[in-house]
Amino acid sequence: MKDFEYTAIRLRDNKLFVLDQRQLPQKEVWLKAKTPDEMCEYISKLCVRGAPLIAVAAACSLTLFAKPKTKKPAISEAAKKLKSTRPTAVNLTKAIDYIMKDMTDKPDTEEMEKRTEQLIKEEIKMCEDIARWGVSLIEKGEGLLTHCNTGSLATPGIGTALGVIRKAHKEEKNIHVYVAETRPLLQGARLTTWELKKENIPYTLICDSMAAMLMQSGKIQRVLVGADRIAMNGDFANKIGTYGLATQAHHHQLPFHSAAPTSTLDFSCKKGTNIPIEQRPLYEIEGFNQNLKKIKWAPENNQTFNPAFDITPAALVTSFILDTGIYTTEEIAGLKPVQFTL
Ligand code: MRU
Repeated sequence: MKDFEYTAIRLRDNKLFVLDQRQLPQKEVWLKAKTPDEMCEYISKLCVRGAPLIAVAAACSLTLFAKPKTKKPAISEAAKKLKSTRPTAVNLTKAIDYIMKDMTDKPDTEEMEKRTEQLIKEEIKMCEDIARWGVSLIEKGEGLLTHCNTGSLATPGIGTALGVIRKAHKEEKNIHVYVAETRPLLQGARLTTWELKKENIPYTLICDSMAAMLMQSGKIQRVLVGADRIAMNGDFANKIGTYGLATQAHHHQLPFHSAAPTSTLDFSCKKGTNIPIEQRPLYEIEGFNQNLKKIKWAPENNQTFNPAFDITPAALVTSFILDTGIYTTEEIAGLKPVQFTL
């Protein structure tokens, strides 16, 4: 495959590296992903994360693993393992299925490379298009609340919700971003702030529990989040805490948008309750891994509950900002899979 370099993934002489997002913002450490097994570990541990980026990382790792002499069962086994690492984001499954589609006993490695490169190109382009549509919604001087990380650490491009924010700043819309810290793994506090800081986009970091108060006091005019899987009735899965923010936005009559590439639409999923929710290890609630050092604040043997995502019901969504346009939840139901590669 041709070399590439994006914010959180790079390929040099067919050697694949991911930026270890567990260590951000303190350290920028690149991890070499030599095998699909290693990539599975990096995805599970969230060294590499964000729905579109894990899809790209998994596809690259599978394609690099497949040599002309590699037997199809070995590739299928690696594909299965990669798909099982994170069950909620549909992009991962779709990307791997796309790479594996019509594979015969003699895998066509050139075709796999072509598809992987096309996948990356499309994800980058979709981010640009999302930003172009999304920015049209934003008025000058708005306070925008965002959750989790949806930027160039979560995609190979400029990001989804964060891509819209980037463009609004570039177009001098004089925005101010409120970044929800995103417990338990603090993707907002560690990663979104890291990205915003690099581009001098004005922001205020808040605890998740402060969002409602800010809405009440008129500081927030709009909520922009990403998505990990959109069901065809407009319910969608996103980082835990998104549903709460949507409820608060609804109460305060604030527009609430999910920005996502069309690769996040699951045409086979009728409604949100059909979306599998990933359960994460309990220690993520009992403490935190600060730069790979575990800090534990809870006592031993707690009963904990740690779903990585929640489902926001369609009724709370003002619109979806996709790469192909802005859609109400009713309009999502009318989209057809044939329109898209993935
Ligand atoms: O668990 P993470 O950090 O991978 O969760 C990521 C999110 O929930 C993002 O909001 C989502 O993947 C959209 S990213 C473009």
